[in-house]
Amino acid sequence: MTDLSTTIGPLRLKNPVMAASSEATMTERGILACLDAGAGAVVAKSVNESPAAARQLLIADYALLDRAGDQVDWRRRGGDETLLCRSGLASLDGWLAMLERTGRRARDLGAHIIGSITVAEPEPAARIAREMAQVVSAVELNIGAPHGREATAVRQVTGAEMVRHYTSTVRAALDAPLIVKLPAQADSPLALAAAARGAGADAVAMIGRFNGFWPDPVTSEPVLGSWGAVGGPGMLPVSLYWVSKTFAADRELPLVGTNGARSGADVARFLLSGARAVELASAVLLRGPEVLSGCVRDLGAVLAAGGYARVTDAIGAAVDRARSYADIPARAEPPRPWETDPAE
Ligand SMILES: Cc1cc2nc3c(=O)[nH]c(=O)nc-3n(C[C@H](O)[C@H](O)[C@H](O)COP(=O)(O)O)c2cc1C
Repeated sequence: MTDLSTTIGPLRLKNPVMAASSEATMTERGILACLDAGAGAVVAKSVNESPAAARQLLIADYALLDRAGDQVDWRRRGGDETLLCRSGLASLDGWLAMLERTGRRARDLGAHIIGSITVAEPEPAARIAREMAQVVSAVELNIGAPHGREATAVRQVTGAEMVRHYTSTVRAALDAPLIVKLPAQADSPLALAAAARGAGADAVAMIGRFNGFWPDPVTSEPVLGSWGAVGGPGMLPVSLYWVSKTFAADRELPLVGTNGARSGADVARFLLSGARAVELASAVLLRGPEVLSGCVRDLGAVLAAGGYARVTDAIGAAVDRARSYADIPARAEPPRPWETDPAE
C-alpha cells in the first residue's frame, strides 16, 4: 500500500488531497462533506474585513463552458467543463464558531481545517488571521484573487515588494502555519514565491485562477455579463509549469499545487512537479465532494504503478528528469509530425 502521508511545512497531512477554498467549502455542511470524503485538509471559503465583500457574493455568478466553448446548463454538466465565474467571499458572522465545530470532526478523521483570507488590506488580514488561528490548523492567505482586478473588496498582489509586506504583516500576528496563495498573472511567480518565503510563509500555494472574458458569438453578450475568473482542465500544464520551476529554484520551499487538478492522476502530476499537496475546487463544485475520495483512492494506485511506495518519494521526481532546451540533443532534420496521416 502506498504511504500517502505528506507535509506542508509544519503541517502533517494523512494524504495530499485537499479541498480548495470555494463555495463548496462555504458552509458547515460543505466542509463536513469534504472531510467525510477523505480530504487530508479542507480550506474553508475565504473571508475578509471589507463590507463590499458581502455585496460581491450577491453579484456572484457561475457559467460552465463545454469544449466547443458553448455555455452548458449546470443540470446538464458533464464534469469536465471550464468554469467562468464571478465569486464573492463568505461572511465573518459566526464564521469562526463554524470553523471550530468543523475542526472537531477534522481531528476525529485525522484531517485539518485551514482558514482562508482573501486579502483587502494587510492589517485587518493579520487581525483576522490571529483570531482564526485559535480554531484552525493553519491559515491560507490568498493574495492572488483574480477578482481583485475587477472588484474593490479584494486585492490581487502581483509585485514582490507587496507580497513581502502582506506576508510579513500577517506572519507577525500569527503563530500557526501560514500558506500564502499566489496569483497566476504576475511578473514572476518565482520571485513572488521567494518573497513570500523570505517574509515568513511556511508554504506557498500556486497558481491562482486567471481572469477571463467570453463573448457569445451570436448575441455579442459576454457570458456572466462581465469579466470573470476562469479555470478548467486546460490550466493544468500552466500550473505545473510554475510549480515545477519554483520547485527547481528552491526545493526546500513547501509547495501546494492548485488550478486544474481533477483526478488522482492529476494530483500525481502536481506531486511529480514538486507540490507536496494539491487543492481542488472546480472538480468538487462540478462533481461533488466524492471526487476527493476518488482522488485519494486513485492516487495510491497511480503512484504504485509508477513505482513509488510513498508520496514523499514522488515529490519533484519529474523535475529531476526535465532537461533544459540546451541539453536536448539536436536531430539531423526538424520533425514534421503534422505531415503524418491521422489514420496511420
Ligand atoms: C467558484 C470559486 C470560488 C473560489 N473562491 C476562492 C476563495 O474564496 N479563496 C481562494 O483562495 N480561492 C478561491 N477559489 C480558487 C480555488 O481555491 C482554486 O485555487 C482554483 O479554483 C484552482 O483550482 P481548481 O482548478 O481545482 O478549481 C475559488 C474558485 C472557484 C472556482
